[in-house]
Amino acid sequence: MIILAVESSCDETSVAIVKEGKDVLSHIVLSQMDIHAIYGGVVPEIASRNHVVHMTRVFEQAIEQSKVDIKDIDLVAVTHGPGLIGSLLVGINAATAFAFAHQKPIIGVNHLVGHIYAASIDNDMKFPALALLVSGGHTELLYIKDHMDIKLLGTTLDDAVGEAYDKVARVLGLSYPGGPEVDKRATLGSDTYHLPRPFLDKKEFNFSFSGLKSAVINVVHNAEQRKEEIRVNDMCASFQASVLDVLIEKTKHAAESFDVKQIILAGGVAANKGLRSLIFKEIPNYDIIIPSMEYCTDNAAMIGAAAYYQYQKYGASKDYLLSGYSTLKLDKNVYII
Ligand code: KG4
Ligand code: ZN
Repeated sequence: MIILAVESSCDETSVAIVKEGKDVLSHIVLSQMDIHAIYGGVVPEIASRNHVVHMTRVFEQAIEQSKVDIKDIDLVAVTHGPGLIGSLLVGINAATAFAFAHQKPIIGVNHLVGHIYAASIDNDMKFPALALLVSGGHTELLYIKDHMDIKLLGTTLDDAVGEAYDKVARVLGLSYPGGPEVDKRATLGSDTYHLPRPFLDKKEFNFSFSGLKSAVINVVHNAEQRKEEIRVNDMCASFQASVLDVLIEKTKHAAESFDVKQIILAGGVAANKGLRSLIFKEIPNYDIIIPSMEYCTDNAAMIGAAAYYQYQKYGASKDYLLSGYSTLKLDKNVYII
């Protein structure tokens, strides 16, 4: 089965062609990061306008690079939520137009399910599995009973972990997006600021990162008032140590509680080098799979991978009436709106 997949939920315009859920025949990602960096974050209106400008070219490149004849494409898949509504609608309309023009079936894929299935491109999933999904908008622990059978165990009560990274980076004067920069600097400093480990002792699976973020902001403001310098690398190392302690401890506790066969680490923050290495060290007796770096942050290949399993289970609707959803629950039924 050959799937043409489209992702445009935030600021990446991406089209991929994926065979049998695993074989990525082409994968184009056009990032708008440089444009949004000027504003210190994604500006929704600018993001959707840029998707409009680039979408057709990204489609053409993906088809050309894959060497696939359009007539051999079996299915079109597109992210229909959650995400920025203007951005989502550009991808949905482009995918629908393509599917209608070539009379292909089309399905809408949950962006978060896509992040999880990014790990299945280079690895085989084993069930039941536990997923730690960490991105700019989400921090979730999920129990995956079988393909497309996903249950939410815990989530963040306030900031998502990637969001906390980006805000901490901003207060430290680092460039956007902050996650990779904090990750890089963390290796150059040490955990000397002794920041809190939120919710670490609670035997529940929810997270909270706004208190940790505020702790960093307080230290920075106090230092400013006293005209003292912040040791930026040490602060990055301290923040990252707190985050990783919490993420890894909760994941370990959930894996043991639900007796899973595999742990999946996914989402943009799964690109974090500290997290990628520490999780193997701290949770040694589990099969842990992580998407390769190129499939951690937003991309259409992960949507093509998820679509392959979703189609087997639910098929595609016969009409071309897909819509976009800024919020879309991730739970047992992947279609819940
Ligand atoms: O999955 P993604 O591309 O977009 C969302 O769906 O949110 O994730 C983007 C987030 C940003 O907050 C970014 O700072 C974070 O992932 N991120 C990282 C790293 N690389 C990206 N956070 C920590 N360490 C990294 N190396
Ligand atoms: Zn994402």
